[in-house]
Amino acid sequence: CGIVAYVGHREACPLILKGLKRLEYRGYDSAGVALLNGDGLKIYKKKGKVIDLENELQNKDLHATVGIGHTRWATHGEPNDINAHPHYSNHKKLAIIHNGIIENYDSLKQALLKKGHEFRSQTDSEVLVHFIEDIQQETNCSLEEAVRLALQEVVGAYAIVLISEDDPTQLIAARKSSPLVIGVGENEFFFASDATPIIEYTKDVIYLDDNQVALVRQGELKIVNLENERQAPYIQKLELELEAIEKGGYDHFMLKEIFEQPRSIADSMRGRVNSEEGTLQLGGLSDYMDKLAEAKRIIIVGCGTSWHAGLVAEYVFEELARIPVEVEYASEFRYRNPIINPDDFVIAISQSGETADTLAAIQLAKSKGATIFGVCNVVGSSIARETHAGAYTHAGPEIGVASTKAFTAQVTVLTQMAIAIAHKRGSITEELYQQLLLDLSAIPQKVGQVLKAADRIKEIAYIFTYARNFIYLGRGLNFPVALEGALKLKEISYIHAEGYPAAEMKHGPIALIDEDMPVVFIATKDSSYEKIVSNIQEVKARKGRVIAIVTEGDELIPNMVDFVIEVPETHDILIPLLSSIPLQLLSYYVAVMRGRNVDQPRNLAKSVTVE
Ligand code: G6P
Repeated sequence: CGIVAYVGHREACPLILKGLKRLEYRGYDSAGVALLNGDGLKIYKKKGKVIDLENELQNKDLHATVGIGHTRWATHGEPNDINAHPHYSNHKKLAIIHNGIIENYDSLKQALLKKGHEFRSQTDSEVLVHFIEDIQQETNCSLEEAVRLALQEVVGAYAIVLISEDDPTQLIAARKSSPLVIGVGENEFFFASDATPIIEYTKDVIYLDDNQVALVRQGELKIVNLENERQAPYIQKLELELEAIEKGGYDHFMLKEIFEQPRSIADSMRGRVNSEEGTLQLGGLSDYMDKLAEAKRIIIVGCGTSWHAGLVAEYVFEELARIPVEVEYASEFRYRNPIINPDDFVIAISQSGETADTLAAIQLAKSKGATIFGVCNVVGSSIARETHAGAYTHAGPEIGVASTKAFTAQVTVLTQMAIAIAHKRGSITEELYQQLLLDLSAIPQKVGQVLKAADRIKEIAYIFTYARNFIYLGRGLNFPVALEGALKLKEISYIHAEGYPAAEMKHGPIALIDEDMPVVFIATKDSSYEKIVSNIQEVKARKGRVIAIVTEGDELIPNMVDFVIEVPETHDILIPLLSSIPLQLLSYYVAVMRGRNVDQPRNLAKSVTVE
C-alpha cells in the first residue's frame, strides 16, 4: 500500500492526490484521504484508482493544510469503499492510514467488540485505530502516548499515520517493517512510503527506523522510540531527480524502463568495472572479500523476479567461483527451519528493498550468525539497512509493476560479484577475468542492439495476441530466463504461461503441445545449443508454433521455427542480459494489444510489504 501525509501551510489534498498517483505502483485497488481543517475530520474513500477518488472529490470543499492519503493493496477484506483507508475510530475523531498487517488484530478486535466498539470494515487497520482510541479513553493519556502503548501490544508490520480532530496541528506516524520517509521542509512535513511524492518539495528526508514514532505538533518534529526515549533525527539528502519518475514520452513506464536498460546496466557497473585498466571493484563488499574468497556456501534469497535473478547467479557463481550456491524463495526459506551456519553468506536480492518475506529471511539468517549482503535498487530501503554490506543495483526508480531494468541490473551486479570473488579465489584465469570485464562492458551497447528489434517483436506479439497459453523453454542460464519470460507475460497480459527447462519438457509439458501452443525457445549459441535444437525439433514434430531467441548469424534454427529474434553474441555467462530483453518486449506488446493496464496489472503490487 502507499501512504502520503502532509502537515504545513500548503493545500494538503492536491498534494496528497499527486503523491498517491506516484505511489500507485504499491497498490491501486482503492484510495482515500482524510483532511483536517477547523471544522472537523473529512474522510473520502473510493474503490478503484486514485483517479476515481479524484473524480469523487469534484466540487467538494477540500480546504485543509493537514491530511493523510492512502492507496491500497488489499490484505484483509475485499477492495471496496468501506475497506479503503483512511479508517476512523468509534467516535470518528481519529483517522489512520496503515500499510502492513496487524497479525493479532482478531484478538484485539474481540476485546474491543466486547467494550462496545462498532467496526465498519473487515480490515485489521480499523482495529488499530479503535484500539488507540480505546487506550486514550481508558488511561486519559495523550494521543502520542496512546499510539506508543498500542504499538507495544501490536504483533505485525506497520507504517501508520494518524490525525486527530482534537488537535488539527498534529500528525503522528510510526513504523515497523514497512517503509516510511519523512520530508522536512520549512515549517512543513511530508510523510510517504517512498520519497517519490516528496522530491519536488524538499530533498531533506529522514527514513524512520523500526519502532520509532514521529510526532509533528505546532510545526515541530519529534522522534521517540516505543519507550518514549528521544531519538536524534538523521536527515539525509535525496539524490532522486524528478524526471527519473516521469514517463518521458513513453506510453508506459514499463516500456521506458525496458528502453533504459543500456543506461541502467551501465550504471550498475559504473565505478566498478574498468575494462581498460582491467579492474573490478565492489566498494560495498571490499571489507568482506578475503572472507568471501574462503566461502563454503552462498545462500541466495529473494521473491518473484529477484528470485529469478538469483537463479541466474547460481549458475554464474558456481561456474566461475566454484562455490556451492543455494537459491531459495525467501517465503519458503524463512519457514522451513533451514540449516544456516555462521560461515554462510546470504545474498538477499530485492528491487524495492522492502519485501516482507525477504526481510524476514535476512533476520532469520542474521540470528544464526550468517553474513548478509543485499543487492537492492532502492537506496536506504529496509533490506539495504538490515544487511551487513551490499551492492546497490543503481538502475534508477522502477515504477512499472513488472520488473525489467531492475532484473538486468541485479544480474549485472551479481555477475560482478561472482567475477570479483572468482578472481580473488583464483578459480578463473587472469585471461578469462580480463575477457569477462571486456564482455561485460560491451553489454549495454549490445542491449541497445537488441532493442532495435522492438518493431519486429511487436509484429510477433500481434500474431499471438489472443493465445491462451504460452510455454517458455531454455537450458542452463537460459532456464531462469524462460521462467522470467513466462512470469512477465503472466503478470501483465494475464495469459497463462509456464517456464521450463527445455529438457524437462518431455516429462510432462510436451503433452500440451499442439498447433495452438506457442512455444518460446531461448536457444542462443552456448554449450547446450545442440541439445536445445533437438528440443525444438520435438516441439515442431508435434505442430507447436515456435518463437526462438537465437544468436546473431544462426543459420540452423531460423529454418526450423516460425519466428526468430536475434541477439548479439557474448560470453555464455552473460547471455541472460541479452536474451531476457526480447521477452520483456514480447510480453509488453502482447499486453498492450490485449488492452491491459501494463504498468498496474490487476491484483499485483510492486512492493509487497506483507508476507
Ligand atoms: C512483487 C513484484 C515483483 C517483484 C517481487 C519481489 O511481487 O510485483 O515484480 O519481483 O515483488 O520484489 P523485490 O522488490 O523484493 O524485488
